[in-house]
Amino acid sequence: MKTFKIAALAGDGIGPEVMREAIKVLRLTETKFGFRLDLAEAPVGWAGIDAAGKALPDATLALCKSSDAILFGSVGLPDRDPTIPKAERPERAALLRIRKEFGLFANLRPVQLPKALAHACPLSKERQGGGIDILVVRELTGGLYFGQPKKTEDIAGGQRAIDTMVYTTPEIERIAHVAFKAARLRRKKVTSIDKANVLENGVLWREVVTRTGQQYPDVTLEHMFVDNGAMQLVLRPTQFDVMLCENMFGDILSDEAAALAGSLGMLPSASLGVTSGEKTFGFYEPAGGTAPDIAGKNLANPLAQILSAALMLRHSFGLNEAAAAIEAAVKNAITAGHRTGDIFSPGEPNARKIGTREMGDAVAAAI
Ligand code: IPM
Ligand code: MG
Repeated sequence: MKTFKIAALAGDGIGPEVMREAIKVLRLTETKFGFRLDLAEAPVGWAGIDAAGKALPDATLALCKSSDAILFGSVGLPDRDPTIPKAERPERAALLRIRKEFGLFANLRPVQLPKALAHACPLSKERQGGGIDILVVRELTGGLYFGQPKKTEDIAGGQRAIDTMVYTTPEIERIAHVAFKAARLRRKKVTSIDKANVLENGVLWREVVTRTGQQYPDVTLEHMFVDNGAMQLVLRPTQFDVMLCENMFGDILSDEAAALAGSLGMLPSASLGVTSGEKTFGFYEPAGGTAPDIAGKNLANPLAQILSAALMLRHSFGLNEAAAAIEAAVKNAITAGHRTGDIFSPGEPNARKIGTREMGDAVAAAI
């Protein structure tokens, strides 16, 4: 029987409780579709610091290296120990470190507003049009997040902080290919986001994306400045199919897009490296963060974590049927009226407010 090895790193805040629901659902697909998941859990983030003194303990990294994919919860608790050095904080020492270590340059964030959640979208019905369905393709290992120099230094009168935005032609080309290929499987349109009117990076980005796009004559390419992109998302989100963004712009616009799809608690993501042979190592996480205010209270929405597990089955293991079954089960649970607090509105007929565990059960029942 086909066996896939997964490193399950739940992390901090709501991580453990949403991870539990995702594993529950994965286990059901295992029996139903006939494959085996060899799943090992390990601490990361503050949980890693507590267990082994580091946000990414050596044993956790070793487990990741021996696995086919990482299913990740979330890390970082803003209120814990502000004195810890910046470089040791979980966001940098675990999350960004893993992205770089495994070369996870392509971040896919599918934003979909299901019909049944129209009420949870902050936009009017008119602006929602026939439905919002956007894939944000975010470059994840370049730009301002990793460019050097990156430092804070003392100067007369205070300090100076420097981050460097840097992209090379090959870095832009490879993420552009990901976007064009993804568009071919969708509505065949790429909107490339940049700031070419001000930034050197933006000019190069636009040139390279345009040139790469010539290899995809069947895909419509459009360029948009990032400030306009932020506005267009709110005014007419249905114009977007694939949004291609550099690291920082993608970070910002994907949160904005997720809010349009009802809640950050609904947004899964896949971070992919280079495919070698048939295998694509991937890192799968909900984009919503640790939400410490609701952690441990059975209030968190587990759907982003569950949908991230579906992306893992599809992109790293090629288990398309099982992935589609999870996605359909999530849709069913929503259509049936199951709502965690973030997607609940009191006036909605047939909607029932439930907890994290109960939402996991509802999805599991629909598999
Ligand atoms: C995300 C998050 C991270 C990022 C943080 C937690 C470092 O906001 O994955 O979008 O900025 O990439
Ligand atoms: Mg973000």
